[in-house]
Amino acid sequence: MPTAIITGITGQDGSYLAELLLAKGYTVHGLIRRASTFHTERIEHLYQDPHDPLARIVLHYGDLSDSSQLTNLFYEVRPDEVYHLGAQSHVRVSFDMPDYTGDITGLGAVRLLEAIRKSGVGCRIYQASSSEMYGDAPAPQNEQSRFQPRSPYAAAKLYAYWMVRNYREGYGLFACNGIMFNHESPRRGETFVTRKITRAVSAILAGRQKTLFLGNLEARRDWGFAPEYVEGMWLMLQQEAPCDLVFGTGETHSVREFVEEAFGYVNLDWREYVAEDPRYLRPTEVPLLLADPSEAKRRLGWEPGITFRDLVRIMMDADLEAAGLPAPGEGKRCLTDGRLAWLRKP
Ligand code: NAP
Ligand code: GDD
Repeated sequence: MPTAIITGITGQDGSYLAELLLAKGYTVHGLIRRASTFHTERIEHLYQDPHDPLARIVLHYGDLSDSSQLTNLFYEVRPDEVYHLGAQSHVRVSFDMPDYTGDITGLGAVRLLEAIRKSGVGCRIYQASSSEMYGDAPAPQNEQSRFQPRSPYAAAKLYAYWMVRNYREGYGLFACNGIMFNHESPRRGETFVTRKITRAVSAILAGRQKTLFLGNLEARRDWGFAPEYVEGMWLMLQQEAPCDLVFGTGETHSVREFVEEAFGYVNLDWREYVAEDPRYLRPTEVPLLLADPSEAKRRLGWEPGITFRDLVRIMMDADLEAAGLPAPGEGKRCLTDGRLAWLRKP
């Protein structure tokens, strides 16, 4: 059975992708950072005792800043596929830490590409490129749209994007860019706006928070459901030839609409709880992201099924449950890994 390396396995996408690959029979090797506390919460349910010779998930300490460890990893594991998801992935934070973001999000990809090239392992690689690279390019954005990055994060991702294309063309690597628009889930990092909102609504209901401070409410994003997007990553590496593809829903909504939907779900009037705080504004904002994902549909048959409303509700239900609160209405289901699964027991 195939072997894959996932960088960023402890992140939102890494955890869903690990689930998907294990279900498909892969052996999965994940790169994790050393930290003074455990931070493997998202993949805890997948843990297998490394003493078990049949264990199909193996974690390796390493860092995207350390090329020698990356090269060793390729010699040791000799993977068939690599999913490069590790990054400093927060756009607002990238303005505070531009050179760190350039190093990890940009150069990190190059270190990985070099490790593959030097080790001579004939594997395929997926690069987690981002719709953020389009910046303020006119919508809808597709594979032909111009990149106009408006953050250190976007510029770093764009560098990695072009290096992937260079290694594909120069060295014949099977290297793909998935240009993914925003995708969210109950596992989304707590400081991204969607999760910040759904957690806050639950905390307000539980009486633990009074106000939700947000930045720009008018920014628009094309928000999809993360488990459907990791399926797209896998499909990209199963093609006959490598290419670059856009993944998104083809719908755009403002942060304000997300707020209205989340508060409305539990019958709260958001205007009583939301306040604007300039500290969450960005020096340069990306005003409107809207995907044209028709090429991914044509080539891969990839099409997302979860709508904006469903996404808000899936996230709300999970955060209400985490806060020990009952969800409004029972029997909600969500699509994970192509199957219907209960979010909570019916
Ligand atoms: P995430 O939850 O922030 O996860 C990022 C992962 O990268 C974490 O596992 C993190 O490890 C790891 N990482 C950070 N710095 C590292 C370093 N120096 N060395 C090794 N690993 C490091 O991000 P995500 O939402 O799953 O996104 C996955 C990838 O897709 C990212 O590259 C992101 O930029 C890109 N992307 C995401 C979206 C989206 O909407 N989610 C859209 C387009 C592109 P720790 O757990 O130790 O922090
Ligand atoms: N995080 C955050 N916090 N964003 C806020 C807030 C707030 O309090 N208030 C308003 N926003 C606005 C941001 O200004 C932005 O326009 C929008 O909400 C979405 O912000 P994030 O959820 O932080 O995501 P992002 O779009 O900047 O970046 C995400 O998507 C990219 C793909 O387009 C990240 O996952 C990136 O890694 C990813 O590449």
